[in-house]
Amino acid sequence: MQEQTETLFETQFEEEVHTGLTDYPKHLSSKYFYDEKGDKLFQDIMNMSEYYLTDAEFDIFSTHTEDITQLFSKNSKNFNLVELGAGDGKKTKILLQKLVDNKADFKYLPIDISQNVLDQLSNSLKNEIPEVAVKPQQGTYFEALEKIASLTNTKKVILFLGSNIGNLLHPQAIEFLTQVQKLMHKDDLFFVGFDQKKNPQTILDAYNDHTGITAAFNKNVLARINSELNGNFDLDKFLHWEVYNPETGTAKSYLVSKVQQSVAIGKLNLNIHFTPWETIHTEISQKYDDKTVEWLAEKSGLEVETQFTDSKNQYKNYVFKKA
Ligand code: AVJ
Repeated sequence: MQEQTETLFETQFEEEVHTGLTDYPKHLSSKYFYDEKGDKLFQDIMNMSEYYLTDAEFDIFSTHTEDITQLFSKNSKNFNLVELGAGDGKKTKILLQKLVDNKADFKYLPIDISQNVLDQLSNSLKNEIPEVAVKPQQGTYFEALEKIASLTNTKKVILFLGSNIGNLLHPQAIEFLTQVQKLMHKDDLFFVGFDQKKNPQTILDAYNDHTGITAAFNKNVLARINSELNGNFDLDKFLHWEVYNPETGTAKSYLVSKVQQSVAIGKLNLNIHFTPWETIHTEISQKYDDKTVEWLAEKSGLEVETQFTDSKNQYKNYVFKKA
């Protein structure tokens, strides 16, 4: 039985779209926002004034450069700076420059699933900070981390920035942190961005901008189903909706069907029916406080070594070590 259902789908995308849209209530994973167009939309989001997260983490990196780089270099002659999900490296470059200025002995190992992202990053570094030794690692976070951990005992400083952890529900976050923790040694550091609880309006504005960039980003998962799975979603018949629960710190994104409608997905041989105002849950963007991060760390065999906050107190980078 199991094998038969598995062979129905050629890709994980197909399988998850099938599962998510035949479930009740409907859901799709935010990891499918990111194709070429989605990457571009996320770049646009990071440049919006409402999306304070990027500026806040940039502020931390610019203000606390000296403390951060000293912490990385502590206790060992050389180290590997490993970044999970490298992106364009805009923030990391501040640290890389400072480390170079301080004559730190380190290598930079950006990990990304996309070879294209890694090539672009390596090229821009070659031009901007040619002194940095870059060793791009193509693959999933854990494949690459496992490989790095098995190849060398050199101290690792692992970066996971941008509050990317916020896409995970707490149990998944604990699983993720535990997996990294298992690949850490005594002096290794794990440097993670956690967006903080704040005025709920600030959060709603960041995830529901007036220009509609976030709406287009959210709807990009439907655009991908159209182009990759031969679907016929009419994007205008869906509404981007954001809610934030200030008690749990969970922001959730939905696509809401404005009308009763049927959508065909050719590649899946599937017809999906929507009643008026039926929802598809697409993303969670979790917000944190110290208590929650300390709890996550404890559950994952980690300890908070120190933390850095931006000048507006909106965002934090926590530094973990193995407990
Ligand atoms: C890339 C997961 C950190 O949740 O803030 C931005 C993605 N979604 N606007 C976030 C996102 C809507 C972003 N992360």
